[in-house]
Amino acid sequence: MSFFGLHFYCFVGICLMMFCGFCSGADPFAHFDLEFSYVTASPLGVPQQVIAVNRNFPGPTLNVTTNYNVVVNVKNNLDESLLLTWPGIEMRRGSWQDGVLGTNCPIPAHWNWTYQFQVKDQIGSYYYVPSINFQRAAGGFGGFIITNRKVIPLPFNTPDGDIVITIGDWYTQDHKDLRASLDAGKELGMPDGALINGKGPFKYNSSVPDGIEHETINVDPGKTYRIRVINVGVSTCLNFRIQSHNLLLAEAEGHYTSQQNYSSLDIHVGQSYSFLVTMDQNASSDYYIVASARFVNQSAEWQRVTGVAILHYSNSKGRASGPLPDPPNDGNDNSFAVNQAMSIRMNNTASGARPNPQGSFRYGSINVTDVYVLRNVPPITIDGKLRATYNGISFMNPNTPVGLADNYKLKGSYKLDFPNTPMNRPPTMDRSLINATYKGFVEIVLENNDTVVQSFHMDGYSFFVVGMAYGEWTENSRGSYNRWDAIARSTTQVFPGGWTAILVYLDNVGVWNLRTVNLDRWYLGQETYMRIIDAEDDDQKAEDAPPDNVLFCGALAHFQKPQRFSSASLSIQESLKLNVMIMVFAVIYMML
Ligand SMILES: *[C@@H]1O[C@H](CO)[C@@H](O)[C@H](O)[C@H]1NC(C)=O
Ligand SMILES: *[C@@H]1O[C@H](CO)[C@@H](O)[C@H](O)[C@H]1NC(C)=O
Ligand SMILES: *[C@@H]1O[C@H](CO)[C@@H](O)[C@H](O)[C@H]1NC(C)=O
Ligand SMILES: *[C@@H]1O[C@H](CO)[C@@H](O)[C@H](O)[C@H]1NC(C)=O
Ligand SMILES: *[C@@H]1O[C@H](CO)[C@@H](O)[C@H](O)[C@H]1NC(C)=O
Ligand SMILES: *[C@@H]1O[C@H](CO)[C@@H](O)[C@H](O)[C@H]1NC(C)=O
Ligand SMILES: *[C@@H]1O[C@H](CO)[C@@H](O)[C@H](O)[C@H]1NC(C)=O
Ligand SMILES: *[C@@H]1O[C@H](CO)[C@@H](O)[C@H](O)[C@H]1NC(C)=O
Ligand SMILES: *[C@@H]1O[C@H](CO)[C@@H](O)[C@H](O)[C@H]1NC(C)=O
Ligand SMILES: *[C@@H]1O[C@H](CO)[C@@H](O)[C@H](O)[C@H]1NC(C)=O
Repeated sequence: MSFFGLHFYCFVGICLMMFCGFCSGADPFAHFDLEFSYVTASPLGVPQQVIAVNRNFPGPTLNVTTNYNVVVNVKNNLDESLLLTWPGIEMRRGSWQDGVLGTNCPIPAHWNWTYQFQVKDQIGSYYYVPSINFQRAAGGFGGFIITNRKVIPLPFNTPDGDIVITIGDWYTQDHKDLRASLDAGKELGMPDGALINGKGPFKYNSSVPDGIEHETINVDPGKTYRIRVINVGVSTCLNFRIQSHNLLLAEAEGHYTSQQNYSSLDIHVGQSYSFLVTMDQNASSDYYIVASARFVNQSAEWQRVTGVAILHYSNSKGRASGPLPDPPNDGNDNSFAVNQAMSIRMNNTASGARPNPQGSFRYGSINVTDVYVLRNVPPITIDGKLRATYNGISFMNPNTPVGLADNYKLKGSYKLDFPNTPMNRPPTMDRSLINATYKGFVEIVLENNDTVVQSFHMDGYSFFVVGMAYGEWTENSRGSYNRWDAIARSTTQVFPGGWTAILVYLDNVGVWNLRTVNLDRWYLGQETYMRIIDAEDDDQKAEDAPPDNVLFCGALAHFQKPQRFSSASLSIQESLKLNVMIMVFAVIYMML
C-alpha cells in the first residue's frame, strides 16, 4: 500500500460509479491510481531499470466504457519529471489533459497530478504512455480500452474473452543512456530484442539465451477471443502473427474495420488493432505468437528483434517446437506492405460509439479547405546538434505551454508560422505551430524522405487514411484516394521514399500535437502542433478554462503552489477516510 491505499480507492471509484448510475443520468466516473516507479527487471536476461506502473511492467490495462469520465491520479515516483499521454483519445474541449510538453507542464518528480477527461463517443483499443524524457523506452505504458455501451451492438459476436497484448522493440540500455547518446549526436542503432507483454522471447531455438521469462496466453479450444495488439515500442515496425491461426481484423484504433483474415499484419509503432481469433486448431502442441522486426536491413543480427510468446490451449498436448511461422515473403516487392495497409478499410455499416453507422460522415465529398505537406528527411545537424525536422523545422517546446500562454495573454512563447509546404531554406530549430482553421477540412500529405519507415500520429483526432504509395506525391495522386471507406485512425505509417495522405475535419478545439511516433526522431524534434481555436466565439468558450489543478511552469511558474506530499502520513489518513466512505457508499448502495 505504497500510494494512499490503492485498492480502497479503486473500490470507492466503483461504488461511486454505481451510485451515480442510479441517482442521475450523468455519465459515470471511473477512478484509477497509477504510481510510476523504477523496478529492476530482466526481460532480455540482462537486469535493467524499467518503469513500472503500480509495480507492474507493463502497467495495468485501464478498461472503461464509452462516455465515461476517466479520473487518473498519477503519482510520479521517478527521479525526473513525467507526463502521461493517451494517444488516440480525442479529448474534447481543449488539450489540457493531453499530456505532451507543448500543452502541459510536466509533473515534477515525487508529485502527483490528476488527469480528468471524458471518453466521449469513443470505443476501441488504445494505450497510455509517458511522453517525455525518452521514458517510453523504459516502460511506463499499459493498455487503455473503451468497451461499447450495452445498447450499442458489436459488429461481431460477443467474444469469449478479451486479451490485451503489448509488443515493442526493446533496448537493454537505460532510457537515460539512450537519450544521452542522441544528445551526443549518435543514432540509437539496433534494438536488443522485442518484448511481448514486457517479456522476452520463448526459447524457440538456440539463438535465444537461457533463463528468459516468456509470456503465455491461455485459451480454451473452440472459443473466439478479441486480441488487442498495441505496438508500444521505440521505432520498429513488428509483423504480428500466431502460428496456424487466422487473424480476423476487426478494429483499428477505435474504428471497426471491414472484417478480413490476415495470416500476419504489420503493426507500426503506436498502432493498435483488435483481432478476432478462433481457437480452431487441434492443440497437438502449443502455438507461437510472434512479433518480428519489419522493414529493417537484411543483416542477420536483426533476427534478435523477434518477440515470441506462447498460445496455450487448455487441452494442449505439448510444447511448441520447430521453426517460427514465416514473416511475409515479399522480398523486394514493396507494394505488398502498401497494399496491406490500404486493405484495412472501415466497416461503414457498423455502429461505432453511437447507434448510427460510423462511416456516415461522407468525407469523400467534402471540399478540402487547406492542404499541408509535411516532409521529413534523415536527422541533420543544426547548430551543432543532431536534430530531426518536418519541413525544415525542428520543434523546440515553448517554455510555457501554448494554451496556458494564451490564457494568460502571454506573448511570444510560440509562433504561428509553420510552413504549409517544405521550404527551400536551411533547417532551423523553432517554436513554430500550424495556425489551423477551426472546422476546416484539411488534407495532410506526409512525405518520408528518411531511410526508415515512420509512424505519424495526431493527437485529439482520428483522420482518414486515404492514400499511400512509394515515390513522389503529386496532385494527380489524389485520383488514387479512397474516398469511400478509408479507415479512420490516429496513427499511420509513412514508408521511406513514399507518402501517405490523410483527411481530417478540424472540429476539436485545442492545441494538438502532430508527431512522428518513432521515439528517437520525436525526441530530436520531428513534431509540431496545430492550434485550433473557435475564432467566432470571442471568449473561446468551446475550449474549457484550464482545470483547477493545472500545473504552471515557464514564465508562469510563479503561479505554481508547492506540493507538500508526505506519502507516509497521507496514506494512513486517506485510507481511513476512504474506509469510512466505502461503508457509507456500501450502505447507500444496499438501500437502493
Ligand atoms: C494528489 O493526490 C491526492 C490524494 O489522492 C489528491 O487529493 C490530490 O488532488 C492530488 N493532487 C493533484 C494535483 O492531482
Ligand atoms: C460490418 O458491420 C455490420 C454491422 O454490424 C456487420 O453485420 C458486418 O458483418 C460487418 N461487415 C464486415 C465486412 O465486417
Ligand atoms: C473490459 O471490461 C469489459 C466489461 O466492461 C469486459 O467484458 C472485458 O473483458 C474487459 N476487458 C479487459 C481486457 O479487461
Ligand atoms: C543494419 O542496421 C543496423 C541498425 O540500424 C546497423 O547498425 C547496421 O550497420 C546495418 N547493416 C547494414 C548491412 O546495413
Ligand atoms: C533460429 O530461428 C531463426 C528464425 O526462425 C533462424 O533464422 C535462425 O537461423 C535460427 N537459429 C538457429 C541457431 O537455429
Ligand atoms: C476467416 O478465417 C476463418 C477460419 O479461421 C473462417 O472461418 C472465416 O470464414 C474467415 N472469415 C473471413 C471474413 O474471411
Ligand atoms: C493436428 O494438426 C496438425 C497440423 O494440421 C497435424 O499435423 C496433426 O497430425 C494433427 N494432430 C492430430 C492429433 O490430429
Ligand atoms: C466543392 O467545390 C466545388 C468546386 O469548387 C463546388 O462546385 C461544390 O459546390 C463544392 N462542394 C461543397 C459541398 O461545398
Ligand atoms: C491565423 O489564422 C487566422 C484565420 O485564418 C487569421 O485570422 C490569423 O491572423 C492567423 N494568425 C497568424 C498569427 O497568422
Ligand atoms: C529524398 O529526396 C531526394 C531529393 O528529392 C531524392 O533524390 C531521394 O530519392 C529521396 N529519398 C527518399 C528515401 O525518399
